[in-house]
Amino acid sequence: MCGIIAYTGSRQAAPILLAGLRDLEYRGYDSAGVALLPESGGEPAVAKRRGKIAELDAAIGAKPLPPARTGIGHTRWATHGAPSDANAHPHTGSGSEVVVVHNGIVENYAALRAELSERGHAFESETDTETIAHLLEEALDSGSDLLAAMRETCGRLAGSQAIVALTSREPGVAVGARIGHAGAVVVGYGEGEMLLSSDLAALLPHTRDVAFLADRQLVRIDERGATYATLDGSAAEVEPRTVSLDPASAARGPYETYMLKEIMEQPAALADTIGGLMTVEPARLTLDDLAEARPWLERVERVLLVGMGTSLHAAMVGRWYFEQIARLPADIDNASEFRYREPVLGPETLVVSVSQSGETVDVLEAMNVARASGAPQITICNTPGSQTTRVADGAVHTYAGLERGVASSKTFTTSIAALFALALETARVRGRISDDDLARHVRDLAAMPEIVGRQLESFDAIAKAADRFRATEHILFLGRGPALPIALEGALKMKELSYVHAEGYAAGEMKHGPIALIDPKFPTVALAGQHALRSKIVSNIEQIRARDGEVLAIVTEGDDELIALANEALTVPPVPALLEPLAAIVPLQVLAYATADARGRDIDQPRNLAKTVTVE
Ligand code: G6P
Repeated sequence: MCGIIAYTGSRQAAPILLAGLRDLEYRGYDSAGVALLPESGGEPAVAKRRGKIAELDAAIGAKPLPPARTGIGHTRWATHGAPSDANAHPHTGSGSEVVVVHNGIVENYAALRAELSERGHAFESETDTETIAHLLEEALDSGSDLLAAMRETCGRLAGSQAIVALTSREPGVAVGARIGHAGAVVVGYGEGEMLLSSDLAALLPHTRDVAFLADRQLVRIDERGATYATLDGSAAEVEPRTVSLDPASAARGPYETYMLKEIMEQPAALADTIGGLMTVEPARLTLDDLAEARPWLERVERVLLVGMGTSLHAAMVGRWYFEQIARLPADIDNASEFRYREPVLGPETLVVSVSQSGETVDVLEAMNVARASGAPQITICNTPGSQTTRVADGAVHTYAGLERGVASSKTFTTSIAALFALALETARVRGRISDDDLARHVRDLAAMPEIVGRQLESFDAIAKAADRFRATEHILFLGRGPALPIALEGALKMKELSYVHAEGYAAGEMKHGPIALIDPKFPTVALAGQHALRSKIVSNIEQIRARDGEVLAIVTEGDDELIALANEALTVPPVPALLEPLAAIVPLQVLAYATADARGRDIDQPRNLAKTVTVE
C-alpha cells in the first residue's frame, strides 16, 4: 500500500524522487521520506516527515539535501507504528550505511527484533521495516554485497514484502526484492539511468520500458542497467516491455482533482477498451490475450468471479453477463472471504478475477487458491504486466489509462465493458449466441461511450441534486437485478469520498430491516431504470414515500410516473437492460463527488484509504 521509488543515473536524484513520491502519494499518504547517497561519498542523507509530501518538501527546503545521483523514496500507509517522523521510511540499521524502504508486513518482526536486540542492535522506530535494515547491515558486515545481503535477509522474513535498499558501500547501486503479494516492484529502463518503483505511474515521466519483478525475484540496478536473480540464488532472465500508457494522460490537466478527470474520461476510456476488445463492423471479438484460457471457455461448467471493493461490484455485474448471455451458472465472491473458505472447485469452474491494479493481495491469494484447485483463470485488469496477469491463464485488458483517484471510477466502467466482452466470447465459443445477437450486443456496447458522455454533460445538474444531502449523515441506496451492484457501488462512492454513512441494499431486502430507518432525515437513492424489475422498485419507492422518506430516483428518460413519484429524479437514457449499469453509475459517481466537494473532503486521497491494498 506504500509507494516506493528509487533512482540511479546521471541526474540529480532528489527532484526525481520527490516528483515520484507525488505520483505515488495515492498509495499511502501518512508520511514520506527520501534517502540519498551523496556524490561526495559518506553515509546516506535521510529526510523524512509525518504527513503529506508537502511536509517533506518543507523539511528539505529548510535543511537542503546534498547533491546525489542515487536515492530512494517512500510514501507510507502505516501498518506497524503510528504515522510519525521516526516511523516514516527510509530506515537505517544501527549504523547509517544501509537504508531501506518497504511495502508489506514482516510477520516475524517481533522475534527478529528480539534476536537483533540481543546482538546489540538498537531500534529507533516501532516499525517492522527497521528489522530489515538491521538484517541487511549484519549481512553486509559479514562480507556480502548488497544483492547477496538482500537475498539472505529475505530468507529470514515471514510474510509478503517489496523492499528496496541502498548502501554507501556500493555507490550508484540500488537493490529491490519482491516476495509474495505485498505489491509490485517495477524496473524502469532510462537513458543512462535506471529506476525502481512500486507503480508504473512514477516511472512514466522517465521511461515506458519497464519490467515487473515476479514473486521471489531480486533486481540490482546501476546506471548501466539491471541484473536479476531469484531468492534461491540463481540468475533470472527478465525482459523489459514497452507499455503503451501515455505519460501525458497521467497528468491532472485543468481538472481540480484526478477523480474528476477520471469520471469525465469515462467515455474515452470505454471507447478505448471496447476498441481493444472488439470491432463493430464486422462484429468481431478480438480478445487476443486469452491464450491458454480460451479452450476452457468451452469446457467449464460454471464461472466464479472474485474481486474487492469497486472491482467486486464490477464482478457482480459480470455475473449477470455470464448468466444472461452465456447461460453459464455464475457466482461472485469477495476474494478475501473466498480464500479462507476452503472453496469447493476444480477444473470445471472458470475463476474470473477483477482487479484494476492487478496487485490487490486478497485477489492474488484467491487466485492461488483457485490455482491449487486446478481451476482455469482469467483476469480483468487495467495494468499490463501486473501480478494477476502473470498468475492467470488469460487476461482481458481494460484500456482506462492510469487511475489515480483512490476511489475508482473509470476502471469500474471499463471492467464492466471487459466482462461484457468476455461473456460474449464465452457464449460464442460455446455456441450459445447467434451471429445476429452477437452483432447486436457489440453494437449496443459500442454505443455506450457516447451515452455515458451525454450523461456527463449533465454533471452540474446532477451535482446540484446533491444539495439535498447537505445536512444528511445517512443515505440508503436501493437496487435490484443488474442495478443492485450499482446501488452498492453508489453507496461505496458516497462513503469513501464524503464520509457520509451510506448503505447499498437489495431493494427486496428493504422491508426486512432497512425500512425501520426511514424517516424524513434518512433519504434513499433508488435505482429505478427500465430493467425487468422496475415495477417492484416502484412499490419500494411508494413504501418509502408513505413513511415520509425522501427519494432521489435514478429513472429512465421519459418515465413520468417515477419522476412524479420521487422527490427528485435524475434520468438515464434508455439503454438495453444489461448495459444500464454503465449509464446508471454516472449520476451516483457525480452525487458522491459533489457531496464530498461540498463538505471539503480530500477527494483524491480520502482518509485512511489506499489505492492498492497489498496488506490483509
Ligand atoms: C482499494 C481501492 C478501490 C479498489 C479496491 C480493489 O480499496 O481504494 O478503489 O476498488 O482497492 O482494487 P483493485 O486494484 O483490485 O481493483
